[in-house]
Amino acid sequence: MGPDLATDGGTVMVTGVAGFIGSHLAEALVAGGHEVIGVDRRPPKDPLVRQNLVGLLDHPRFRYEPVDIADGAMLRLLMPVQVVFHLAAATGVRSSWGERFREYASSNVLGTQMLLEYCATVGVPRMVLASSSSVYGEAVVLPMREEGPVWPLSPYGVTKLAAEQLALAYALQDDAPTSVVALRYFTVYGPRQRPDMVIARMFQAVLTGTPVEVYGDGSQRRSFTYVDDVVRATVRAATMEAHAEVINIAGDQSTSLAELRNLIEQVTGQPVPTLARGRHLGDVAATEGDNGKAEHVLDYHPLTPLAEGLARQWRWLIAHPNPSLLVLPGRTS
Ligand code: NAD
Ligand code: UGA
Repeated sequence: MGPDLATDGGTVMVTGVAGFIGSHLAEALVAGGHEVIGVDRRPPKDPLVRQNLVGLLDHPRFRYEPVDIADGAMLRLLMPVQVVFHLAAATGVRSSWGERFREYASSNVLGTQMLLEYCATVGVPRMVLASSSSVYGEAVVLPMREEGPVWPLSPYGVTKLAAEQLALAYALQDDAPTSVVALRYFTVYGPRQRPDMVIARMFQAVLTGTPVEVYGDGSQRRSFTYVDDVVRATVRAATMEAHAEVINIAGDQSTSLAELRNLIEQVTGQPVPTLARGRHLGDVAATEGDNGKAEHVLDYHPLTPLAEGLARQWRWLIAHPNPSLLVLPGRTS
């Protein structure tokens, strides 16, 4: 059985808490009555921290710790923790080539390995790790299933696969104190989505009139997954019976960028200006996740249709105009 959060007092840690998904997860955990230690290397005054954690920073059950996951200070922070939700990572598929790979290897591989050591030392019962559909690469057979081949096409995907496999290796040691559930999220969207991602960029293109660059011919497909659905699955993974598991968390359909653009035009009532660009290195043509295992072990069902989730993201964006968070034209990541 997984940790009993109710009787154990329910202190949990979210790493990467200042990020897009981590901040939503922390909100749900606090609302569920848990004490949440939120770890992120961003300083408290970072505009993204202030934006993403606005409802949490003053909450009595939330504590923000601006610490790197590899820092020895994590040992003390982990002492009361029943579940570590490990979301901290260098993110973004297309910016993981070249010089920046160092950052990906450092946080995603070396940082994860240090965190696993700390969890083992302290005896943390459960880690739920954010893995990624990018571990699959270009699947020969769709939908992608957990037991299918993994062949990441980007340096980012390689580091996410390494993190996932490291966590499983630790969990599979004799007498390992920390069980692991690795969730392979598929392209997540919703309010506060990272500004380098295509949905956020299409909305920004509507707002600013600056065209969004479309890499390739727009036929690439993604299992876009609404953030509340991802959060619900992630919270459930904390207490499921598990030793070392990998589970897909995907949306209920795979949608092309051309279809996505149409939907965004319907939601906003305005055209999405675009600029055709070449296909990016490491960009897979299609993702489509099989949710069969998640349905079975987590009772996970993606509840938010894409048009509804897009409408929510759009409503959030127009209620929170913040020029400092706009994507600068020409930035590719
Ligand atoms: P994000 O970039 O918004 O958040 C990641 C956070 O981790 C950032 O706030 C960053 O400061 C922090 N961080 C990075 N390295 C750190 C370190 N060494 N120590 C402490 N903090 C560190 O990303 P996101 O989109 O919210 O993604 C969250 C997780 O989910 C990541 O692990 C990502 O790989 C995974 N994931 C995301 C998606 C998606 O579509 N967004 C899909 C699949 C998997
Ligand atoms: C997303 C996240 O960014 C990764 O962190 C995550 O690990 C991954 O999902 C996953 O599912 O594992 P990605 O699918 O590339 O990666 O999501 P987007 O960045 O939103 O890109 C989706 C598609 O739109 C890609 O084909 C990309 O090339 C394209 N795109 C993106 C553009 O055409 N223009 C842009 O400005 C941005």
